Amino acid sequence: MKITTAAGNLQAQRADTLLVNLFEETEPGGATSAVDKAAGGSIARILDLGDFKGELNSTTVAYVDGAIPADRIVVVGLGKEAEFTANRAVQAAATGVRKAKELGTKNVATVAFGAGAGGLQAAEAAEATTLGAVLGLYTFDRYKSKTDDDKKEIDSLTVVEFDRSKVRQVRAGVGDAQILGDSVNMARDMVNSPGSDMTPTALAEQARAMCRQNGIKCSVYGPARIKRLKMGALWGVAKGSREEPRFVVMEYEPSGRSRGTLAVCGKGVTFDSGGISIKPGAAMDEMKMDMSGAAATVGILRTAAVLKLPVRVVGLIAATENMPDGLAVKPGDVLTARSGKTIEVLNTDAEGRLILADALDYAHSFKPDAIIDLATLTGAVIVALGHEATGAMATSADLVDRLKQAGDYTGERVWELPLWSEYEEAIKGKIADINNTGGRAAGSIAGGMFLKHFARDVPWAHLDIAGTAWSDKGKPYSPGGATGVGVRLVTRLLREWTKPPSADKS
Ligand code: BES
Ligand code: ZN
Ligand code: ZN
Repeated sequence: MKITTAAGNLQAQRADTLLVNLFEETEPGGATSAVDKAAGGSIARILDLGDFKGELNSTTVAYVDGAIPADRIVVVGLGKEAEFTANRAVQAAATGVRKAKELGTKNVATVAFGAGAGGLQAAEAAEATTLGAVLGLYTFDRYKSKTDDDKKEIDSLTVVEFDRSKVRQVRAGVGDAQILGDSVNMARDMVNSPGSDMTPTALAEQARAMCRQNGIKCSVYGPARIKRLKMGALWGVAKGSREEPRFVVMEYEPSGRSRGTLAVCGKGVTFDSGGISIKPGAAMDEMKMDMSGAAATVGILRTAAVLKLPVRVVGLIAATENMPDGLAVKPGDVLTARSGKTIEVLNTDAEGRLILADALDYAHSFKPDAIIDLATLTGAVIVALGHEATGAMATSADLVDRLKQAGDYTGERVWELPLWSEYEEAIKGKIADINNTGGRAAGSIAGGMFLKHFARDVPWAHLDIAGTAWSDKGKPYSPGGATGVGVRLVTRLLREWTKPPSADKS
């Protein structure tokens, strides 16, 4: 889909569908009203009849009889004006373009959602609208011999701005959204790919290719280097699989003055069978998504580089399968992590924290001002927060507050769980320094407490995305399956970053 910006009136556009919006229980204003008047009041008739009220993500279609070049107008509801957010603009735009696609539309023209009564800046509104379109039209059909809606593809989207003084801002917003949307969709593609295709080797190659395209420094380590770096926890998981592990280092350096360094560590378990502590069969197929943190890390590095964000970002990916091969780590085995800490593996299915232990430790060699890890770490976070929020655990209240704010803005919600020292008891080692599991209670926190040992004194936040990285139902801007969570969240954090977070909690 080609996305462009145009100056002028929406109603004059040569597109087969015009996409406009309406706040709940309000009279049409701005572009919606202008289009309606030019088209002979067909939207007003729908509203008069009470057939459409403007509820969030509801749609109606008004047909045009020759008065303007377009064939139809899709109207999408923005919900209550008082509850409006940029994320609602993303949702509504996604709903609108999906409706247009369903109708077989080829060319859509629209306006920046929320720029008028919604109170968003022109660039912000244009970004939200375009992002909704790019994310909303995402499909994963690479593995279908022929797709059901092969013919139904939108070829072009034009974001039209009436006020000439704002066209530049709209163009910038459209451009940023394309970068962001493509990065999220790239992460989604990686996660949706079957485990046998998205192996640790393939994952590292994808990361390398992305880096090459965007001028990011990238190194990929194989088994020998991993062992030489003493990453015994990562190796402990990796040796249970025939697939070789990979450790990926991506370094984005801003061309101007940097406002600090953020290290992002991604869990890259390309398939989690559970290992010797094997998982039950039901829905095991979904465990190809256990590299969602790694995929998000690739997406984050991409947006940072292409948007030229003023923060140095180091992306670290620990990639391996978790399999029950003959040499696999066994319950009761003790591994020595890179930091020197010894770990008794009580459950081989708690492998994410093992590989991240070494990634977090290695992150320190880049002297980061902050570390964020993204990991599909625990089923327990789904019990606690469902699929609506990512669980955050942190050693910096400042960092976690920034993540929460970024979550509220993007809709990739974040909620904090505590890492109080009282929880340490649960993972205290009997024969080694620490255990990799802490019993049934507070499962996500036990994971966080474990990782805290390796994040040490650098302001750090752990994001448990087990509930948010995959969606059975989908959302207006996600068809179900991989969500690409984390890319928008951390990109927002980086865009709002003025200075490094403080280490204000221990
Ligand atoms: N990859 C899983 C966590 C997961 C569960 C991700 C559901 C996505 C959806 C992780 O490696 C795991 O198996 N965790 C165990 C930890 C337990 C053994 C302490 C879990 O959550 O059961
Ligand atoms: Zn596991
Ligand atoms: Zn896992």
